[in-house]
Amino acid sequence: METNTGTTTRTLGRSGIEVSALGFGCWAIGGEWQAADGQPLGWGKVDDDESVRAVHRALDLGVTFFDTADTYGAGHSERVLGRALGKRRDDVVVATKWGNVFDEDTRTLTGSDDSPGYARRALTASLRRLGTDHVDLYQFHLSDGDPGRAAELRDTCEEFVAEGLVRAYAWSTDDPDRAAVFAQGAHCTAVQHALNVLQDAPRLLALCEELNLASVNRSPLAMGLLSGRHTAGRVLEAGDIRNTPPAWLQGFNRDAGADEDWLASVEALRDVLTSDGRTPAQGALAWLWARSPRTVPIPGFRSVAQAEENAGALAKGPLTAGQLAEVDRVLGR
Ligand SMILES: NC(=O)c1ccc[n+]([C@@H]2O[C@H](COP(=O)([O-])OP(=O)(O)OC[C@H]3O[C@@H](n4cnc5c(N)ncnc54)[C@H](OP(=O)(O)O)[C@@H]3O)[C@@H](O)[C@H]2O)c1
Repeated sequence: METNTGTTTRTLGRSGIEVSALGFGCWAIGGEWQAADGQPLGWGKVDDDESVRAVHRALDLGVTFFDTADTYGAGHSERVLGRALGKRRDDVVVATKWGNVFDEDTRTLTGSDDSPGYARRALTASLRRLGTDHVDLYQFHLSDGDPGRAAELRDTCEEFVAEGLVRAYAWSTDDPDRAAVFAQGAHCTAVQHALNVLQDAPRLLALCEELNLASVNRSPLAMGLLSGRHTAGRVLEAGDIRNTPPAWLQGFNRDAGADEDWLASVEALRDVLTSDGRTPAQGALAWLWARSPRTVPIPGFRSVAQAEENAGALAKGPLTAGQLAEVDRVLGR
């Protein structure tokens, strides 16, 4: 994002692929799905027609980057995104992921598979659900996957690129060492990892800088917390993963909604994030753009209203250096 010229795009690392500085994350619009033990893995019920309207609104507001995964809603998110994009597919950059195995009929996650053969089958299935002949950014979804196996998958991804099925690829991982393994491939262009104003990732950002990779930011709103709309004791619906958070999910407690310490940090940041007329969510996105020129946040959404608010952050640009320092002061960093 070049704020001084008012442009609102960023480059996806060494691929040179240009995207809107904001992508839309399509996990929630996959609807309900679960692990084999019944643990909810979605965000509760969604209205597909509203999801499609939200994607259309995002397109109209200049968003050209969409992140999904084959497993979100056990294939449903890819289908809804494909339906929403329709004839506008070639106007946008589509990222999806593979590595998890699931049953589309029962909407259940059944395991994982890091074999090259599965990668090819998964890609074929994603192309069919998305209704497209190529994926722009193909991402390995197993964040803690074996680095030796990943080196093989990197070569498989290079084959996909040579065949025109994929334009570029990435590992979705929070581990810089794993990200560096994938980055040895010529067409690896990004790392997808957690980053938000409450959860910094300096080592990954340094790696992106060193190797000319984009930093695609999942959970940029701390799974909704940074919208400033959660209150103590607000319990979420039963099918929402935040209601029964797995060990890796921070900021929410079982059957108890948002964590009080996290809520206190969000409140402490409210003034600086809402300066210059931003909403708290827009301020959280602005922090990410200010944090590094390589970041591309991909906030999730469930409604046209959320799409409008999040896309509206683009025009307001990054926080200033002074506001960035104020965030660190407030958080004691
Ligand atoms: N690679 C991976 O393993 C991985 C893991 C996680 C996420 N991701 C990707 O990253 C994307 C975003 O991360 P995330 O879904 O974890 O969390 P997030 O973007 O931090 O939070 C998204 C949630 O915040 C709420 N929200 C969004 N905009 C809002 C607004 N303007 N006002 C109020 N609430 C708003 C919505 O939920 P409510 O309305 O229900 O509160 C929405 O589902 C995902 O969609 C997915 O594409 C990838």
